[in-house]
Amino acid sequence: MDGSRSDFIIGKRIFLKPLNSQLSIGSELFPEARKFVVREKVAGNLVGEVNYCSYSPSQGKVEIGIEILPPQRGKGYGREALSCFLRYLFLTMKVWKVVLAVAVNNSIAQNLYSKLGFELEEKVCNGAYDPGKEKFIDILIMSLSRERWSNLQS
Ligand SMILES: CC(C)(COP(=O)(O)OP(=O)(O)OC[C@H]1O[C@@H](n2cnc3c(N)ncnc32)[C@H](O)[C@@H]1OP(=O)(O)O)[C@@H](O)C(=O)NCCC(=O)NCCS
Repeated sequence: MDGSRSDFIIGKRIFLKPLNSQLSIGSELFPEARKFVVREKVAGNLVGEVNYCSYSPSQGKVEIGIEILPPQRGKGYGREALSCFLRYLFLTMKVWKVVLAVAVNNSIAQNLYSKLGFELEEKVCNGAYDPGKEKFIDILIMSLSRERWSNLQS
């Protein structure tokens, strides 16, 4: 993929534009990672970003992340961006499973993921380092299979 127009993911109110830069999270580099900027279709305002990292084509599995800018939250953009992104991952990239990690106390994100069909796989104590809190935090691993996602679309 080269970031050409055909890689744009178009939703009703927003679109996702791929960036070519390599994604780094903390000090780790993810060569298979990709970041998409989310913008409003009409005004073009920045909404946030979605990304995938740890893409394993052989396993058909990908790990994702999402962040909506604070002023843009609560408007349904997170749900729309993630719905578009899932459609792209399952139908265009043909992954069979999408996984993510979410802090145990992030109930807002957990609500969003549950509404889109993600299910809890496991809880990992001290599973991620939170640079803001300067300590390890407990996380939940959630996942959504292509089969479950497809069933939820009908
Ligand atoms: C989590 C996040 C992506 C949600 O995006 P958003 O655009 O605000 O969410 P939406 O407006 O699309 O709402 C989608 C669902 O999220 C949940 N949600 C959103 N805001 C909420 C709130 N204040 N309280 C509880 N649930 C909330 C609801 O389930 C909502 O569905 P509903 O509207 O049918 O009730 C956004 O809050 C965010 O970027 N947070 C900071 C970064 C983050 O936590 N990323 C995830 C890391 S795993």
